Amino acid sequence: MYVAGVLGTGSALPEKVITNFDLEKVVDTSDQWITSRTGIKERRQAAPDETTSTLSVQASRKALAKAGIKAADLDLIICSTISPDMPLPSTASLIQHALGARGCCAFDLAAACSGFLFGMTVAEQFIRTDAAKYVLVIGAELLSRYLDYKDRATCVIFGDGVAAAVFGPVEPPSGILAHELHTEGQYADHLFIPAGGTALPASRKTVEEGAHYIKMRGNELFKVAVRSLEDVSRQVLKKAGLTADDLDLFIPHQANQRITEAVRERLGVCPEKIYNNISRVGNTSSASIPICLDECVQSGRLKKGDLVLMSAFGAGVTWGAVLMRW
Ligand code: ACO
Repeated sequence: MYVAGVLGTGSALPEKVITNFDLEKVVDTSDQWITSRTGIKERRQAAPDETTSTLSVQASRKALAKAGIKAADLDLIICSTISPDMPLPSTASLIQHALGARGCCAFDLAAACSGFLFGMTVAEQFIRTDAAKYVLVIGAELLSRYLDYKDRATCVIFGDGVAAAVFGPVEPPSGILAHELHTEGQYADHLFIPAGGTALPASRKTVEEGAHYIKMRGNELFKVAVRSLEDVSRQVLKKAGLTADDLDLFIPHQANQRITEAVRERLGVCPEKIYNNISRVGNTSSASIPICLDECVQSGRLKKGDLVLMSAFGAGVTWGAVLMRW
């Protein structure tokens, strides 16, 4: 049995910045409301010629370079996204071809904001059992393409971004120590895109009604998110025989600063151990945790031997946590 860990990370954010003041001009909102209710000051928006796969390729090349791995050495590519380039084929196929990772298995994974942790867990299983040596996991979202800029409940929250990590066998005590994933479909209608699938195929009517945009019942999700993130974080710590006091870094999914603060307090993690970037990038769904991870690695905030807890919650609803020794 092998232990899986991160060999390299990389991220790619679109250049265009959308501030709260920009949004004040298009929808009935204010910088004061968005900042106080979410912690978000600005987010990124992809240019028309950028897609989920093109930004993924940029982030992946950086992660591969940091890992010292060639694309041809990859055994598996997992692209976690709910905003694919197109319904068919998978965005992972497009990334695989662009990277030149010929013949390597590649697939998309849809678990919304928890998707990167779901992808990490799949990667860990492949590496642990020697079914794969090097796995590229990407969290990639261009949610601006699914936002209704007339709906102030959603358009202020989400941003575009991509990040990737190369996973491979590492020497203990480094590596993934514990993981825990959950899904509860009874809350599926709390966050969804009604049209464009088999239930409601795209038509002139669905477009006129805006049914291809994200719909969210934010208030209901808020409560489920806080409870689930606390529970799942405690579960992985318990599995590893550790406590919140042992943590060096806590990276929660950047859904809302009030959610991450509530979870941090409930877990008893001290304020200097949490990493947040929601003010600069908004909620980038499955790209949220890997963007944070890459920023922590690049800035030296995450050092070898550190114990890091990552916890996420998203549409589905899905939630999960991964505990790893860097
Ligand atoms: N600007 C101004 N006012 C607004 C805005 C806005 N952008 N949005 C909502 N409001 C108003 C509402 O209309 C409401 O007004 P009313 O009281 O007159 O009816 C009031 O503000 C309060 O609305 P709430 O929805 O109760 O506001 P809340 O404090 O819950 O904040 C938010 C909304 C930010 C969406 C929050 O509920 C949240 O973050 N929820 C969790 C989201 C989440 O975790 N999603 C899952 C992960 S994302 C994924 O999986 C892709």
